[in-house]
Amino acid sequence: MFRSPEKTDHDKEGLRCDATARTSVSALETELHGIKIYETALGCAVNDDLKKEWQVYLTQTCQRVDLLRDVFSALSLNPDMTASRRKVVNHTGASLVEAMEMAKADGNTSAAQAIARECVSLVESKDHKNWDLIRHLAREGKREETTLSGAANDDVGEDEEGHFCHAWEGTRELSMAALCLPAAVSVF
Ligand SMILES: [Fe+2]
Repeated sequence: MFRSPEKTDHDKEGLRCDATARTSVSALETELHGIKIYETALGCAVNDDLKKEWQVYLTQTCQRVDLLRDVFSALSLNPDMTASRRKVVNHTGASLVEAMEMAKADGNTSAAQAIARECVSLVESKDHKNWDLIRHLAREGKREETTLSGAANDDVGEDEEGHFCHAWEGTRELSMAALCLPAAVSVF
């Protein structure tokens, strides 16, 4: 049984600034950084199949931003809301982009691609958790939160599961190969 962690609060402009608002703004910030992370990762990718996969995931990440902006409008949330967890997502995302740029500048292309996989895996882990929370809010939240069901539909859930699992498997299998251990699944 869902219990609201706090009452619905509003800021001076009448926009909500409660836990739902903070969760939504954290998800939006993750997707905005996801775009930058995929764009940078594509610049590090050398495998053609991996490039194709990341291009698809980049397109889907851009679509998630549009979905979340619709949610903000439907729930009277402020997409520019400042929140400490947003600052953390911002800092982490910028650090991941910087890490990939550093790896690329080192000139070892296969190492840069491996680091890009790690960075994609980290942001997709956060993204996966965000969409899981949004799905729960849509199903079990207060009346206005059911508006989220349009954003957290099964297609989005399947896509995000794919982003997370492929990224995680890719980094895991590369680490297994580096240790001369047999692969559990094939990766690009
Ligand atoms: Fe994702």
